[in-house]
Amino acid sequence: MKGMEIVGLGKALPGVRLENEELKEYMDTSDEWIRTRTGIGSRYLCTGEESLTELASGASLKALKDANVRPEEIGLVICATCTTDYMVPSMACAVQEILGIPGGVPAFDINAACSGFVYGLQLVNALMRGGDACRGKRKYALLIGGEQLSKMLDFSERSVSVLFGDGAAAAVVRASEEKRFYCHTAAEGDRSALYAHTVGRNQIPESAYEGRQVVPENPLQIRQETAEKILRDGYLQMDGKKVFRFAVKALAGEIEEMELRSGICAEDIDYIVCHQANVRIIDYVRKQKKLPEGKFFMNLREYGNTSGASIPLALADMKEKGLLRPGTRIFCVGFGAGLTWGGCYLEF
Ligand code: COA
Repeated sequence: MKGMEIVGLGKALPGVRLENEELKEYMDTSDEWIRTRTGIGSRYLCTGEESLTELASGASLKALKDANVRPEEIGLVICATCTTDYMVPSMACAVQEILGIPGGVPAFDINAACSGFVYGLQLVNALMRGGDACRGKRKYALLIGGEQLSKMLDFSERSVSVLFGDGAAAAVVRASEEKRFYCHTAAEGDRSALYAHTVGRNQIPESAYEGRQVVPENPLQIRQETAEKILRDGYLQMDGKKVFRFAVKALAGEIEEMELRSGICAEDIDYIVCHQANVRIIDYVRKQKKLPEGKFFMNLREYGNTSGASIPLALADMKEKGLLRPGTRIFCVGFGAGLTWGGCYLEF
């Protein structure tokens, strides 16, 4: 059997936790609006002293400790993030350096937004099985989901900024002959539902182009955009209603996909750990599928939406609460910008 298991989990959160009430200082909003529309009560946000690099390495150290694995035993590092600190190098390489994971093994980032951790698990499995990763004494993979979403939030704009938070969590993973693992990922390109432009722009002076034919024409028309639009689009933009409709469809669809692949129906699975975006998305699908309230693990009340960090943060919290016992079986479902979505079946 080509299975895989998570043997260690760790999380790291910024020092500042902002309650809904405190957001009133920056925008016209209320605890009541945020709670009833989303189920979110607070979120952690990085201060100027904190960064994603710090969160991702902190979470990784804890995951290694939890798994009782040394940096020398790591054979693959992947970081799922859409809010990297550096354009280059990757967060995975930064963590490799900070933790002292010896060189000679692959380390790279992936951006599948809120589905990043599920995509990451699928990649780890593929690289362990079909690729050349995690051989000999370096049989473990380190998979990190980390975000500093506050970097791309406009706190004068209330409809998006109240939803998100910062945080990171990491998992130590190894191939297993006993624990089954199934995964499915998908995407449908859409640049308008949920997006943020990179801030870096073409700084080449216009004079450099004078007298030259610029071929081909920029297909994205980025050079035609005004400075204001570029600045605004550097912040996260969202069509909330469109994303809501997409999310309920993706969540319901992936639960069915995992039922088919694992041969276990949702009623019999111990927990469904889905991307922590909005309690209304989860409740909608839960009622549609006639599942009991406790079936979905939720921690979004405290953290808000932490994108790629959300599923591993939930897993780390579940482990802390003693919910991941030997034999526990779960479905994980991610969905988000891309649009991307995916599910996996895990056994503990
Ligand atoms: N506080 C107070 N009022 C707010 C507000 C805030 N933070 N944000 C928006 N509003 C106002 C709007 O301005 C609007 O006012 P108006 O009717 O006077 O114009 C009103 O609330 C309703 O806004 P609307 O956008 O219709 O609300 P909604 O019911 O669609 O809920 C979301 C908004 C964002 C909560 C909802 O669309 C959603 O959850 N979408 C999915 C988002 C998501 O999960 N994204 C991440 C997926 S990975």
